[in-house]
Amino acid sequence: MVKRLAIALALLLATLLVLLLYLPEMRPQPPVSMASGAVAIGGPFTLVDAKGETVTDANLKGRYSLIYFGFTNCPDICPLALQTMTQALEAAGPAADGVQPVFISVDPERDTADALAGYIANFHPRFLALTGTVEQAREAAKSYKVYAAKAPVKDADGKETGDYTVNHTGYIYLMDRDGKYLAHFPSEAKADEITAAIRQLPHG
Ligand code: NI
Repeated sequence: MVKRLAIALALLLATLLVLLLYLPEMRPQPPVSMASGAVAIGGPFTLVDAKGETVTDANLKGRYSLIYFGFTNCPDICPLALQTMTQALEAAGPAADGVQPVFISVDPERDTADALAGYIANFHPRFLALTGTVEQAREAAKSYKVYAAKAPVKDADGKETGDYTVNHTGYIYLMDRDGKYLAHFPSEAKADEITAAIRQLPHG
């Protein structure tokens, strides 16, 4: 009897152990690097700016950056996020001088350097707008754990129009001077929240 109980108990413990070990793997994981405890957002990229000049992650170092991934044909969410970033920087006063706003395209096929130049002029004058080849844009999105996928636009009858939109992650990332993740805000965040975060950064 005791032996049977012991076996049952051992089985139960083994089951619990398996559940403990493997269940977390089955859940969607936040992009946390277990080794350092730091959030693994940010990393290498090579893109071009609105003038066609090459810009890499190294160019962002030495300053804070406020980064948003989107595309110029986005009807509402992207312009709202870029407007919010603009307002947040304007409201932060001198503290904003140490922060580089960055827009990275998830639609490099349509977002040429010229297209970016026209578009980004609607927002903060210091915005760095970046695009590249499809592969370069994909690498940049991957570094920031940004999901982006083309989706065909359909008409009222459900027929594909030949046009496409891009479904994408819409976080605004605040990165430190080494290009490491500090915080993120949803695309619909209030400018005040971002302004407060910028003011709290160690400056100087
Ligand atoms: Ni968008």
